[in-house]
Amino acid sequence: MEIIIQANAAVANGVAARLFAKAIRRNAGAVLGLATGGTPLALYRELIAMKLDWRKIVTFNLDEYVGLAPDHSQSYHYFMWENLFRHVNIAKKNVHIPDGLAKDIPKFCAKYEKQIHAAGGIDLQLLGIGTDGHIGFNEPTSSLASRTRIKTLTPQTRKDNARFFGSEAEVPHHCITMGIGTIMEARHCVMLAFGKNKARAIAETVEGPVTSMNPASALQLHPRVTVFLDEDSASELKLSDYYRWVYDNKPDWQKF
Ligand code: GLP
Repeated sequence: MEIIIQANAAVANGVAARLFAKAIRRNAGAVLGLATGGTPLALYRELIAMKLDWRKIVTFNLDEYVGLAPDHSQSYHYFMWENLFRHVNIAKKNVHIPDGLAKDIPKFCAKYEKQIHAAGGIDLQLLGIGTDGHIGFNEPTSSLASRTRIKTLTPQTRKDNARFFGSEAEVPHHCITMGIGTIMEARHCVMLAFGKNKARAIAETVEGPVTSMNPASALQLHPRVTVFLDEDSASELKLSDYYRWVYDNKPDWQKF
């Protein structure tokens, strides 16, 4: 894992945006895995401002709440169109987000996996992280080999995400999420985590044992992961000085 600690989230988002822009410019038909939540918002704003060409870009989102229609203000469909897609020239047919209203969820999930495969797999996967170490909506004890499927949200995640809804009672109990196994097949995973409330999950992800108790720790087994942190989310890392030293001494050809 490459751990990049920046002074604050704004600086880290700037570097992450350059990484995404480079991938889009290098491959006009790149397949991107995208994430929701508060964390990626600033990155999406930066990418919009860069006026990149999204015509041939293909996207797959990590997850969606079960039971929310695409036009529900808290659905991840709505989030993605509102915060990214409607501001860029992406083709609607190239956008894939799990269908929270799917009648036959297992069938839909199998189709989603097939679509990722048919697109040639995900080149660059954006990830946030939950305070319990979840990625996508793969909650603790998710199988590290899991594929796209229905999951039940933990009380903690429902509490964490209640801030986007009117009240906790309105947060759905179920979701469809890419599995850890699905995420692990992306060629490059980029995680963003900012703020003190992510510090413990990040320390466990980067320096703890690989365990389904912190699903993000599976990324230790991935050959190419870049983690962008601010001082707060990095505050519980034991080897933070080492990560800073590595980044400061990056060879030119590896710079973003
Ligand atoms: C949700 C999403 C995750 C996201 C997490 C953290 O549960 N399913 O993909 O990483 O929230 O969200 P935030 O960035 O708002 O802290």
